[in-house]
Amino acid sequence: MHVILGITGGIAAYKSASLLRLLTEAGHSVKVLPTQNALRFIGQTTLEALSHNTVDSDIYTDVADVKHINLAQEADLIIVAPATAAFLGRYANGISDDLLSNVLLASNAPVVVAPAMHTEMWNHASTAQNVETLKLRGVHVLEPATGRLTGNDSGAGRMPEPEEIINQALQVVGRRDLEGKSILVTAGGTHENIDAVRFIGNKSSGKQGLAIAHAASLRGADVTLIAANVNLPLPNGVKVVRVESARQLNDAVLTAVRDSDCLVMAAAVSDYRVQDISEGKLKKSDLGESFNLQLVLNSDTLADAVKAISKEGLGTLTVGFAAETAGSIQNLEDVARAKLASKGCDVIVANDVSNGAVFSSDSNEVLILTRTGGAFSASGTKLSVAGQLLDVISDMLA
Ligand code: CTP
Repeated sequence: MHVILGITGGIAAYKSASLLRLLTEAGHSVKVLPTQNALRFIGQTTLEALSHNTVDSDIYTDVADVKHINLAQEADLIIVAPATAAFLGRYANGISDDLLSNVLLASNAPVVVAPAMHTEMWNHASTAQNVETLKLRGVHVLEPATGRLTGNDSGAGRMPEPEEIINQALQVVGRRDLEGKSILVTAGGTHENIDAVRFIGNKSSGKQGLAIAHAASLRGADVTLIAANVNLPLPNGVKVVRVESARQLNDAVLTAVRDSDCLVMAAAVSDYRVQDISEGKLKKSDLGESFNLQLVLNSDTLADAVKAISKEGLGTLTVGFAAETAGSIQNLEDVARAKLASKGCDVIVANDVSNGAVFSSDSNEVLILTRTGGAFSASGTKLSVAGQLLDVISDMLA
């Protein structure tokens, strides 16, 4: 693949050398276009050596070659990493004052940008607006990672690791094997109200479900995401229905599943709800030393969906999740197989959540079991696990 790697002037530019190396090692032909400010952070010599290509980002050299147009037409993929706040502003406003920005305006290739800046700059209204504009135009703007920044501060704004950028970029240009398929994904964790201010919830962050929705959309699927109390940025290009309780989730799923080729139940759904929710705030002075909450069983949405699909002959593929404190792989597989059978779904994705390791983490390790006896293990970032699950789903839908 012909890849253009744009580098703009931020400290994370030093990580672009690793990104470049990974791209060339994977056999891609890479042309690096640093901005003038990027060359304050990383040397042209380094970029030439690692790309096995000349680096000349001056638009006024070799003018007869019309290089911005040639590069734009030749590119299969353009990655800009790191992308500074200034770059995002120029790109969103069509300001083409150097070779990289001219190429971006002249190219039809998919574009992936990896912003990197301090949290305050990332959260600034102007940056948010520029990112929104770019996303609306189909640019794939990666979420910055959270962690240590250049000073003593930490927060959102780190450039994602080079492996993650490549992973996402390859999904952007990868197979469009889910084109024409509708995928319904639930994510997050339900809340069951106790009174006006309290609820019973769970530890699910929604990251794995969001990654599945995101990856499915990148592969061309028409995605509906039912998000239960998810407090994370939602992927572009997916239809979102927000719910809070298990009952609301049940209604939303049973409505949308009729138009779906596949249902992925990644949400952690509360098995019980409070029988009598107090309208006002419960007061300690009224409750005394101890009190009992009467809980009643919620509907099992996955099992209900499986029944509706079978009754109406819909043929929708159903994927359940099983987060278990199994302790061993063998035990996990046994529990997951039993759950696959009891729920009646086509696929179950099981993971061991002993010690709370998976919740809110960016990585995951799962076992994917199919009704027909298939067993696959998948691990890596949640986006990578999503991709491996979608490989299985795509084969089953084909
Ligand atoms: N699920 C559901 N409706 C519920 C409970 C769970 O649709 N009321 C779905 C989850 O989204 C998940 C799968 O069923 O895809 C398994 O959820 P899990 O909580 O592991 O299973 P339970 O059937 O609730 O069994 P238990 O909690 O007793 O292990």
